[in-house]
Amino acid sequence: PLRVVLLVGGSGTRLWPMSREHHPKQFLPLFDGRSPLQDTWLRVADLPQGAPIAVANEAYRFLAAEHLRQAGFPAQGTLILEPEGRNTAPAIALAALRATRDGADALLLVLPSDHALEDRAAFRQAVQSASPAARAGWLVTFGVLPDRPETGYGYVRASAEPLDGLPGVHAVESFSEKPDAQRAAAYLAAGNYHWNSGMFLFRASAYLDALGRLRPDILRACRAAMARTRDDGDFTRIEAAAFLGCPAESVDYAVMEHADKVAMVGLAAGWSDIGSWDALWRIAARDGEGNALQGDVQAVGCRNVYARSDGRLVSLLGLEDVVVVDTADAVLVAARDRVQDIRGLVAELKGQG
Ligand code: GDD
Ligand code: MG
Repeated sequence: PLRVVLLVGGSGTRLWPMSREHHPKQFLPLFDGRSPLQDTWLRVADLPQGAPIAVANEAYRFLAAEHLRQAGFPAQGTLILEPEGRNTAPAIALAALRATRDGADALLLVLPSDHALEDRAAFRQAVQSASPAARAGWLVTFGVLPDRPETGYGYVRASAEPLDGLPGVHAVESFSEKPDAQRAAAYLAAGNYHWNSGMFLFRASAYLDALGRLRPDILRACRAAMARTRDDGDFTRIEAAAFLGCPAESVDYAVMEHADKVAMVGLAAGWSDIGSWDALWRIAARDGEGNALQGDVQAVGCRNVYARSDGRLVSLLGLEDVVVVDTADAVLVAARDRVQDIRGLVAELKGQG
């Protein structure tokens, strides 16, 4: 059986000032009032599947539970709470351990909760193509053709020919997580690289085997954390001390870069990570001048501007390629090609606090 695993972590500092420590990006009403987390679940809610598993931070348990409930996440689903995030390799391990404990060796469809995806049908088709390979023990990633030298993603080079008897599935020859700008540009120019979408399909056991071989320390800590769990009907809490001792590492660095049976299925579904204001501008509905305006915003003589107002009127005149975000207690005005650096801006603000 298939089981969906939702990863609900990370704070989304690059979406400041909307995203705050107490209100991270996966809970923001970015899609017609729905949050990215809700959109993620709704994308897969009606697939034939066993009970889903969400892994979230203790600090956001009520937000996570409320958003999921509103989106129809079933009551028999599990919400595992991490006392503190240890990145995605451990988070997925907790879900995989939970799934194997429930008996059958499920196929886990691992989904980050901060992506936008336009074409649901194409995505489901890709999941279907990936299923036989995942059943056969491959760790399958969904690859997206790059259109820019993005350094925040992982890159996979997959074999041109599909695997024997697995149409649409290609063996991954190399996996490079977050290359520097020069290498990212080279991968784009080479033409035979895909972005790792960060969504995966694999057997729970295949993931745990690979993790045990590559990072036994992470697996050991997660096993210890799952050895004794407390379930109060709403939340599943793990052994905090054991989990806090777990190294923090992403699934990409810990497993995907080094595992031997990694495969890729191509995904052309209007996928994008909504990590930055620039990404939101790219996926937003834009007027003839390329402006994406949300809320009470007036723009005259502007081009390629992303602007949103939570309340009062914002008027813009003669601007190009800027981002303006007005919230109750902070305003961001930034060059659109500098929005990756908001991280630094927020770090500086915290330093003052
Ligand atoms: N539960 C839990 N705990 N979830 C976490 C944690 C954690 O400690 N850390 C991150 N997550 C969740 C995030 O909320 C997000 O939904 C997902 O896991 C991926 O984490 P990111 O931090 O957003 O990863 P990334 O964007 O830098 O890189 C990954 O995604 C890219 C595509 O968006 C990698 O897989 C890249 O290779 C990939 O290209
Ligand atoms: Mg991300």
